Amino acid sequence: MKTIICLATTGLVTAGALAATATIAAPPGPAATAGAQVFARSCAMCHTVARGAPSKLGPNLAGVSGRKAGSVPGFRYSPAMSKSGITWKADTLDAFLAKPSAVVPGNRMGFAGIKDTAQRAAVVSYITGLPK
Ligand code: HEC
Repeated sequence: MKTIICLATTGLVTAGALAATATIAAPPGPAATAGAQVFARSCAMCHTVARGAPSKLGPNLAGVSGRKAGSVPGFRYSPAMSKSGITWKADTLDAFLAKPSAVVPGNRMGFAGIKDTAQRAAVVSYITGLPK
């Protein structure tokens, strides 16, 4: 929330941030907007969200909601992720992002997790709202 207040102090920056959010297809709503910011800060260096965009270090996340873990064609997942049997939904994403190494031991996502419940909820809301 601090970030939003901070951005809101300069109208131009806010407009820019909102436009950027719109182009990466965030669903409307404050949680989604906050989630887009968390995503930009913590995930975007490794994950693309636009449909059909190439995977980076991590798999493309377009349409991740409802998808089986380890199922983006052509992406080389760890055996741990491929065999996890998880279907990505709000609750499984929330648990995974809290501590990836605990939920999928041996996975290759170089990310410790998001401790803050609100930030995690925001980013989950953002990625589950991504178009297929
Ligand atoms: C340092 C790079 C990196 C960062 C940062 C990162 N990821 Fe990942 N992510 C990966 C990799 C690599 C995998 C595949 C892991 C495997 O195969 O074990 C992955 C897998 C995933 C998956 C499973 C996808 C699937 O197709 O099964 C989800 C969901 C995910 N990441 C979400 C996120 C979110 C949300 C964030 C930010 C909070 C994030 N990641 C941050 C690299 C990263």
